[in-house]
Amino acid sequence: SIIDHFMKMNAKEEELAKMLKLQLCRIVPGNLDDDSTILDQLGIAAVNMFDELLPEGEFIVAVAGGSTMAAMAKNMTTELSDNRKFTFVPSRGGLGEVMSIQANSVSDLMAQATGGENTALFAPDNLSAQALDSLKNEPTIRYTMNMMKRANCLLYSIGNAKVMMERRKMSEEEKKLLTNNEVVGEAFGCYFDEKGTIISRLSRFGLQIEDVERIPYAIAIAGGELKAKAIKAYSHIAPEHTWLVTDEGAANLILKGD
Ligand code: G3H
Repeated sequence: SIIDHFMKMNAKEEELAKMLKLQLCRIVPGNLDDDSTILDQLGIAAVNMFDELLPEGEFIVAVAGGSTMAAMAKNMTTELSDNRKFTFVPSRGGLGEVMSIQANSVSDLMAQATGGENTALFAPDNLSAQALDSLKNEPTIRYTMNMMKRANCLLYSIGNAKVMMERRKMSEEEKKLLTNNEVVGEAFGCYFDEKGTIISRLSRFGLQIEDVERIPYAIAIAGGELKAKAIKAYSHIAPEHTWLVTDEGAANLILKGD
């Protein structure tokens, strides 16, 4: 199997993978919340994992946003394309975050770093149902949405719900709804509680959390103690074939069972 080719998991990684019911976990030393250089280590580990996970061939890689994903993009090189051809596609539009870490920017960076193609998504993510309907038939948007549907690889991070709520321009009302429902994590614009129950879905455009199941190659990258609860909760949603890159900060808390 693929796993046999991969650098073996150490005892702690095995334990974490078992606990989260994921096929493979990699834990980088340190805690991102105490040491910002760990972000780069997560990025490097994720690139190595990506290289190990993907066989030769053509890949449509759906890419989420965030600072972790940007760190992964930064560490990609053209060597990844030696036996592969990549088309990157953002998994969603923007949600009001800084441009440099939006999915669109990250997928463009990845395409540049690997010498692959990029397909941009020129649409904000939080449109009204009405605006969405009229935009859905625009040729450039339809093209990107189709590309997204054909994605056979997925790279994304999991966010701490509170941090993401602050980062995005969310109304007081929305924030209150999420807080009352005790959300702990976020992925793909979905906020979920400790059990992995989805409380709110902000993203209308783009990949939905349910799509992860059918994408054969999926890597989640998330580190830092602040994300421990989010990662644990997300493991209730994640399909088993998910590979996870995290750090000791998050892993130690998850393993302690807090
Ligand atoms: O959507 C954003 C991610 O889930 C988390 O972002 O990598 O900046 O923590 P981050």
